[in-house]
Amino acid sequence: MPETVIETSQLTKEYIRDEFHVVALKDVDIRMQKGEFVALMGPSGSGKSTLLHLIAAMDRPTDGEILVLGQNLRALSDRAIAHWRNEHIGFIFQSFNLIPVLSAIENVELPLKLTNLKKKERIEHATTALNLVGLGDRLGHLPKQLSGGQEQRVAIARAIVTDPDLILADEPTGNLDAGSAQEVLTLLSRLNKEFGKTIILVTHDPHAASFATKIRHLEKGELLPEGQVPDDWAHTASAASVAPDKLKHVAT
Ligand SMILES: Nc1ncnc2c1ncn2[C@@H]1O[C@H](COP(=O)(O)OP(=O)(O)OP(=O)(O)O)[C@@H](O)[C@H]1O
Ligand SMILES: [Mg+2]
Repeated sequence: MPETVIETSQLTKEYIRDEFHVVALKDVDIRMQKGEFVALMGPSGSGKSTLLHLIAAMDRPTDGEILVLGQNLRALSDRAIAHWRNEHIGFIFQSFNLIPVLSAIENVELPLKLTNLKKKERIEHATTALNLVGLGDRLGHLPKQLSGGQEQRVAIARAIVTDPDLILADEPTGNLDAGSAQEVLTLLSRLNKEFGKTIILVTHDPHAASFATKIRHLEKGELLPEGQVPDDWAHTASAASVAPDKLKHVAT
């Protein structure tokens, strides 16, 4: 029987400061099953990052309900929520967010410092994660000694080292060249297919979205029904049906 891992009901996030009022997310009902790989698309400002942050418990909604892995996130204290996030969520950022003064293995070890694991076990787990992303020979390198694609793979190793149930990636290929992007997308696809990870990938890139098994669209803070795309999507959608090697040709 399918296991529901994300369930939101009328999820809403508003930003209010003085006369300034933005409804970033409005009445979003989304349900995801374990093992799904969903690409979340939509114009800039449509609320993609906001939704991802709420699911990752990095931010709190202003209204509505949110259940992730059966946990009502609104019921958790700030302290409990940080631990919950560390245990269950692997988050991958567009700009990698590695700590510059720490080596690759030290960056990957970081989330394990909040667990009961001993140093030796932490290093073993971090090494396994870095091997999985193909960086077993770069353990001692600092971020600045790595290429962008390698930095993002370290960030992926850091995201998976705790063996999280859910991997959330916010434009993870946005800062990468085509070859590195392909490596990162292939890796996400493997994590989904071989390791059964549930993944949400926010992207503007139709090619990246094609790695997912389902695409959902946000428009002005509202989640469109499955199969529906924003009104101005026709142009991009036709680009998506063109093979990636042809896209380059179209762009030039
Ligand atoms: N901390 C904040 N304070 C005020 N407004 C915010 C804040 N964060 C986001 N917003 C607003 O909420 C809306 C949704 O932002 P969000 O970052 O979720 O969009 P996005 O779809 O991720 O866009 P992009 O594709 O450019 O990353 C935007 O109008 C944005 O200006
Ligand atoms: Mg964003």
